[in-house]
Amino acid sequence: MATQEETFKKLVAHCKEYGFVFPSSEIYDGLGAVYDYGQNGVELKNNIKRYWWDSMTLLHENIVGIDAAIFMHPTTWKASGHVDAFNDPLIDNRDSKKRYRADVLIEDQLAKIEEKINKEVEKAAKRFGDSFDETMFRQTNPRVLEHQEHWNQLHERYSKAMNANDLAELKQIILDEEIVCPISGTRNWTDVRQFNLMFQTEMGSTADGAMKIYLRPETAQGIFVNYLNVQKTGRMKIPFGIAQIGKAFRNEIVARQFVFRMREFEQMEMQFFIKPGTEMEWFKHWKEFRLKWHKALGLGDEKYRFHDHEKLAHYANAATDIEFLMPFGFKEVEGIHSRTNFDLSQHAKYSGKKIEYFDPELNESYTPFVIETSIGVDRMFLSIMCAAYKEEKLEGGDTRVVLNLPPVLAPVKACVMPLVKKDGLPEKAREVMDMLKFDFKTTYDEKDSIGKRYRRQDAIGTPFCITIDHDTLNDGCVTVRYRDTMAQDRVKIEDLHELIRKAVDMKQLYRKLMEA
Ligand code: GAP
Repeated sequence: MATQEETFKKLVAHCKEYGFVFPSSEIYDGLGAVYDYGQNGVELKNNIKRYWWDSMTLLHENIVGIDAAIFMHPTTWKASGHVDAFNDPLIDNRDSKKRYRADVLIEDQLAKIEEKINKEVEKAAKRFGDSFDETMFRQTNPRVLEHQEHWNQLHERYSKAMNANDLAELKQIILDEEIVCPISGTRNWTDVRQFNLMFQTEMGSTADGAMKIYLRPETAQGIFVNYLNVQKTGRMKIPFGIAQIGKAFRNEIVARQFVFRMREFEQMEMQFFIKPGTEMEWFKHWKEFRLKWHKALGLGDEKYRFHDHEKLAHYANAATDIEFLMPFGFKEVEGIHSRTNFDLSQHAKYSGKKIEYFDPELNESYTPFVIETSIGVDRMFLSIMCAAYKEEKLEGGDTRVVLNLPPVLAPVKACVMPLVKKDGLPEKAREVMDMLKFDFKTTYDEKDSIGKRYRRQDAIGTPFCITIDHDTLNDGCVTVRYRDTMAQDRVKIEDLHELIRKAVDMKQLYRKLMEA
């Protein structure tokens, strides 16, 4: 059995081999934590974005979309707090010259202790067999208790240092725990420094007249600065939401796990403007709706969990993550935050403009509170690929690699294949393809044996393969081969459209989302 790590490596290789994700500017050896989406990746990504966009703007008449510029006036980022507080604590190893996030080094140390505990439990479970009582073992085994005590103390010390922004203490923890650089193996660490994650550039033609600007680290601020524009021109009444999909940029110090943590990535964010005092009710509503959105895809309900934040961001009074079970553990895919009126108040203060809402029912003005839902397109993409990637042992000893993608998201919905490249079969196949291609992403393949062609489609997750054979010319039927079961059916050409539509129509997901 392959380990989770091996499977993940295979998935990354698969993404490249089958045109999902390539390292950026690969012919120049790539660029750290920047990736390009290939011909299949972009289709999957577009389908994810459509599912999100429609479930916000089609299903909610009080949510509208915008598309704000990536460049924003630099005061935006002063007001939002990003210039002063969007930092990671970094530390360098003097021997390897490698840079690390101090918090990540300590979190890895905590994970190592947890691993030691789990190993003790696994060993004992093997030794005692069916009579093993895990809870009792964890509560009484001296070695486990010792590790647990170590973990508790370290965790408490680390949380305290992070909350107090105590950089000297973070370094001291790294020294006390004897954490070594994985490259040099030494403990020759610099002091811990704060590192701002925003990329900077200059706007304007002369060095003197140029203005320092930032690449946006979140799309949310484009929504906040347009709150008045949208509310007024759209005559929006509270509660209402503004949705946006767009690129965001963060100069991540430790970028790893493929598209999980990138320096250029894409977010789908929605800010929901509400009456102050109703935030907990709406926070709960959006938590439930967003989890339903994930689960409707059918990747497995057990793969999701909420992780409520103990340490809140400077703008939030409640926050939770929706985590997905990746091969490297449960990881954040989406954040839901109750952002109070922090952002709008800050923009009012820094711009000198009144940013309020006149509530006709209360006959008074107030600064709206905000519930934010914020999901990374790339992390969503990764979670779907991780859940879909399977290596199956077939009868006869063969293996096949298949992507069990939800058909609604699959990059290609159907591939039309003439059994042979002669006797009028290619022409008939083209006719069938022309009939389907306005509604579904359809491809044509006539190269190699039919078995090889099926495998190629399995590898990119195409739910339907449609084979045209000699009988088709007489009976008007084709062979439909289903990706997941590999079963085959004879289907009339005129029934193909409805067969595919039923499986790939996003409306079925929208209906699920609207169910109470
Ligand atoms: N506006 C709130 C905000 O940006 P966040 O938790 O920092 O909150 C929201 O980011 C989502 O954006 C995350 O849940 C994640 O899916 C995605 N994300 C954040 N940083 C990322 C990165 N470096 N690479 C890929 N996705 C990222």
